[in-house]
Amino acid sequence: MTGTEERDAPRRLIVAANRGPVSFNDDPSGKPIVTRGAGGLVTVLTAMLRKRPGLWVATAQSDEETRLAARGEAVEVTLEGDTYRVRYVAPDPETYFRYYNIVANPILWFIQHYLWDLGWHPDIRENELLAWREGYVPVNRMVAEAMLDEIAGAGERHVGVVHDYHLYLASSTVRRGAPGVFLQQFVHIPWAQSDYWRILPREMREAVFNGLLANDIVAFHTSHYVDNFLSCCAELLDLEVDLRRRAVLFHDREVWVRAYPVSIDPETLAAPAQDQRVLAEERELLSRRRDYLLVRVDRLDLSKNIVRGFLAFDRFLDLHPEFKERITFLALLQPSREDVEEYVEYRRRVLRTVEQVNTKQGTTDWMPIDLRIQDNFPATLAAYRNYDALMVNAIFDGMNLVAKEGAIVNRRHGVLILSENTGAFEELSAFCVPVNPFDIEEQAQAIHRALTMPTRERRALAEQIRAVVACNSIDKWIAAQFADIEAKLESS
Ligand code: F6P
Repeated sequence: MTGTEERDAPRRLIVAANRGPVSFNDDPSGKPIVTRGAGGLVTVLTAMLRKRPGLWVATAQSDEETRLAARGEAVEVTLEGDTYRVRYVAPDPETYFRYYNIVANPILWFIQHYLWDLGWHPDIRENELLAWREGYVPVNRMVAEAMLDEIAGAGERHVGVVHDYHLYLASSTVRRGAPGVFLQQFVHIPWAQSDYWRILPREMREAVFNGLLANDIVAFHTSHYVDNFLSCCAELLDLEVDLRRRAVLFHDREVWVRAYPVSIDPETLAAPAQDQRVLAEERELLSRRRDYLLVRVDRLDLSKNIVRGFLAFDRFLDLHPEFKERITFLALLQPSREDVEEYVEYRRRVLRTVEQVNTKQGTTDWMPIDLRIQDNFPATLAAYRNYDALMVNAIFDGMNLVAKEGAIVNRRHGVLILSENTGAFEELSAFCVPVNPFDIEEQAQAIHRALTMPTRERRALAEQIRAVVACNSIDKWIAAQFADIEAKLESS
């Protein structure tokens, strides 16, 4: 290639995330079964790599991925007819445990969702500091080194996009090793206000901010998180911040801070929603259906506010006994982070609350809350198709794709009850029944309002949500990011 050709060639994309595109599940035959990797991030990243091929760096989550990591080079994995190039890194189990189960979850996750009850938690002791130094730091370094290794093979004409809170330190290592590479980091969870970040010891806090500011662009889902991040840069680091241009000056480099609200690809839900397994789940669901169906679909996570949702339902039944025996609250909860103590305790609370509400309100013939702790996408799609109201009452949530998926798949003009602290609220506030996630009284009223809304109004709201989702498509999400990457490259 000549110098000009090389300059004009599109930059090669390298994405890095904690999880890879697929999960390898053990099969008695000995050959692992490949399924889609867990979580919403995997769905949007696979969509991005289908549009813009590149390489994916991920940590190994299974024995098969550990074997693939040992090759020390990218491998090809195929999912639903698409092939992805993935470079796995495999920290030893103790290092990974410290990185994922002590630092990323709960410390960073809890800070960013305001989940610590500060009179009681967290206690940051030697165990947490060790987890940082001997877990979070080395795993980030391993991911960064894999990225650098790939970059070294083809010069610095790359765009590296690092995803989420597991990997806040990776970009600073990549920047040191390849100063000319273009780097973006996408933070998929909320960004807390500055005082709450003071929970994190200075050593960790400075490393998090230095890592993020090693990027050319730092991305969030909403303008509110952009504002919070910019205020943190000014208040915690005393950096020069241009609020109007949403830029931070850091070591003579300008870092742009931008919002790109992520969405879903309606087409990828349309075909599976007609799948035989979904239709079988739907038949089962309809055979049990009462007059009304309230649904929630979440990971079993404290940030999702599951317990308050059940308490609100209990209150709703107290206030409106005419709904007794005529409604089911179907809660589909995916098990999550089961090695983290706070999640284990929360699961117990969820189970206890369901038992209490069902004992208090239920009858021999009727179980008000139907709780299913499972990872079953066909059952989720069947529930999406049939809800009358969908409860999304998260304490805080980066975006919340359930709100968007539900509206696309639903066939009953179902009403969305949406927490004002979700990222999705920036786009959907006018088309939902809004709730304060802490106000159980308001959530009880919201359930009633959603279920008694005239059909014309329900239809109008559902159509408007579908229009927003169709307009703010995943294609638009991807295009907006690459447009800014081009603009930033041109401006520097
Ligand atoms: O919301 C942030 C996020 O990392 C998502 O990308 C993902 O869907 C979810 O959390 C799942 O987390 P975990 O990888 O811990 O299961």
